Amino acid sequence: MAKTKTAFVCQNCGTNTPKWMGKCPGCGEWNTLIEEVVYKPSKSGSRRNFSETVSRKPVPITEVKADVTERLQLPDGELHRVLGGGLVPGSVTLIGGDPGIGKSTLLLQLGLNYAAAKVLYVSGEESANQIKMRAERIGNLHDGLLLLIDTSLERVMERIEESNPDLVIIDSIQTLQSPEIDSVPGSVAQIRECTGELIQYAKETDTPVVLIGHITKEGNIAGPKVMEHMVDVVLQFEGDRQHLYRLLRAKKNRFGSTNELGIYEMQGSGLKEVTEPSQALLSHRDEGLSGSAIAASMEGARPMMIEAQALVSTAAYGTPQRTTTGFDQRRLHMLLAVLEKRCGFGIGRFDVFVNMAGGIRVDDPAIDLAAVCAVLSSSEDYPIPGQTCFAGEVGLSGEIRPVTRIDQRIREAEKLGFEEIYISGYGLKGLNLKDFSIRVKPVKRMDEVFQQLFG
Ligand code: TYD
Ligand code: MG
Repeated sequence: MAKTKTAFVCQNCGTNTPKWMGKCPGCGEWNTLIEEVVYKPSKSGSRRNFSETVSRKPVPITEVKADVTERLQLPDGELHRVLGGGLVPGSVTLIGGDPGIGKSTLLLQLGLNYAAAKVLYVSGEESANQIKMRAERIGNLHDGLLLLIDTSLERVMERIEESNPDLVIIDSIQTLQSPEIDSVPGSVAQIRECTGELIQYAKETDTPVVLIGHITKEGNIAGPKVMEHMVDVVLQFEGDRQHLYRLLRAKKNRFGSTNELGIYEMQGSGLKEVTEPSQALLSHRDEGLSGSAIAASMEGARPMMIEAQALVSTAAYGTPQRTTTGFDQRRLHMLLAVLEKRCGFGIGRFDVFVNMAGGIRVDDPAIDLAAVCAVLSSSEDYPIPGQTCFAGEVGLSGEIRPVTRIDQRIREAEKLGFEEIYISGYGLKGLNLKDFSIRVKPVKRMDEVFQQLFG
């Protein structure tokens, strides 16, 4: 009998070592090496060849025929945009997210709304019955959506070839299992093998494949980092389960930019696209309360007005707390230090809480100014007028720094009926303030803003 071959495989980066080690020599992580049984695939090569026509010779780049492939136009506008304008034929997309966030719903809904195409939805997680019940909540059932409940990679590949779909969805990659590899489903070796096989299928038949991936408690897509390297696009589905909103971000995209953001609202009948995020986010606002300021922010190429809320209160315990939701905590520490040192506000003794309303995490330095103004408004207990908004980064010496695409931000504020916007007084070249009907207030220093707001 052939001897079973085992190796220690890092669950983080996929490095193989013959001996156990505490620290992975590849990525330096501790306690990630796990013993796995590895069989060498038979000599003839176990992978199916889907077509023999792929050229294997080096070719001058000028002679490479680039077929301008038509992207698949998706019925889901947000997903379409985050992907950079639809699915590229032959691409493999990985969607990760916490359990229960709505990954299965998002992709089932894509299949249901995609009446023009034949979609194969492979699930190893739920029964056909469960999926049917979910589909009925969403609606739009049609014959082009095929369901397959299976976890064996071999059988799944056979069915895929048989039914020749326009789009394959795998829920989830961690449940697939190849008989060639003798380790449990979800292990690095299994994931690598299954992903590899699906990628090969996608490339050779020009069929887009979408994989759902689980997330570990550290927030990484479970399985080796190598999976993220292997696929073309990595999307992250996130959000607070207590909040309605779900965000779809691109972490990697070989066919487009990664700074687009898709916003959905979880409803009783599936996920609804939020096409006017500013209006959705501002609709529940109570004007006239202190501690609230509106930021004219950008997510990718799309302007988005978002409310920063702050609460400053006497510290109940010895050490003042700084807690944030949707805002970088270290950034808050820095902004408070600037207020303390450069502007003379004694906030050090107080608890400070900062939330971005709706639980939406934004990575835009332009929200600094709104966050600081919300903190000041709460600490002074003086409301900021509801028709005022802010777009500026706060620098270490208390200066207000310019931000990107300022004219687009001003236009959005104007469109939504704001009357006044504070922006940086630096770098105003090329911006004619008279073009706007909204009052634009250029400011250069934090104390200037304070004077004008609370004077
Ligand atoms: P699901 O897609 O199963 O999450 P994942 O695949 O990421 O684990 O989403 C499950 C959650 O979504 C569940 O808690 C219920 C909620 N949900 C709705 O609120 N409305 C709906 O129409 C559907 C289908 C799900
Ligand atoms: Mg699921």
